[in-house]
Amino acid sequence: MMSMLSKENNNEIFEDIKRNLIRAVKDRKHTFHTPVFCNLDDQNGVDSRVVVLREFDSPNMILNFHTDFRSPKVSSLKKNNNSLFVFYDQKLKIQLRIKTISSINNQNSIAEKMWEETQLISRKCYLTEKPPSSATSFPEDGIDESLKGKEPTLEQSEKGYKNFTVIQNKIQKIDWLYLASSGHRRLKIILKDRMPSFHWIIP
Ligand SMILES: Cc1cc2nc3c(=O)[nH]c(=O)nc-3n(C[C@H](O)[C@H](O)[C@H](O)COP(=O)(O)O)c2cc1C
Repeated sequence: MMSMLSKENNNEIFEDIKRNLIRAVKDRKHTFHTPVFCNLDDQNGVDSRVVVLREFDSPNMILNFHTDFRSPKVSSLKKNNNSLFVFYDQKLKIQLRIKTISSINNQNSIAEKMWEETQLISRKCYLTEKPPSSATSFPEDGIDESLKGKEPTLEQSEKGYKNFTVIQNKIQKIDWLYLASSGHRRLKIILKDRMPSFHWIIP
């Protein structure tokens, strides 16, 4: 548990945010492991979905998740790279709204490095015949029958590499909200050249 003092101390709050994001990448039970990622779709409509937080580069303040290159969010992010993550942890009583700028990594050194670390069962997501979000005449997962209930072999999994994409999201701004009966607190953290500036705001 954090002490009362740390809810009033800019630097301690910033360090605590970073600690939780680092922990959330490894700990699948941490609620920050599955944030909501938001961006604008091709018609400038709002779109949001749950993703798995795969990496947090704390020195460079970059959040990463993985996706399929053929998914609609990739083409939307190419057009408009403004994005936002929302995290909430009931026990910590903390909401984070993290404003980011996204970049797409497909078949480059970043994607290659992460692909090497990806387990065979996770690689299966990238083996659908039809692109994600495309229409199908019956309920299915899009994966070939021969792989039903099975892990792909290493060779079979390699077909997914061209679809595997790392979305890197460079943090611009963090809106930290601590909602507790003892007194709500809200801190805006703006990052410029990785240096934070702190601004208290009314929750
Ligand atoms: C627990 C959970 C984790 C998910 N993780 C990811 C992920 O890491 N990457 C991803 O592209 N989709 C993930 N999804 C699926 C997305 O929420 C979404 O349905 C899918 O990516 C299609 O989104 P789009 O139509 O906006 O491209 C996850 C869904 C759930 C429920």
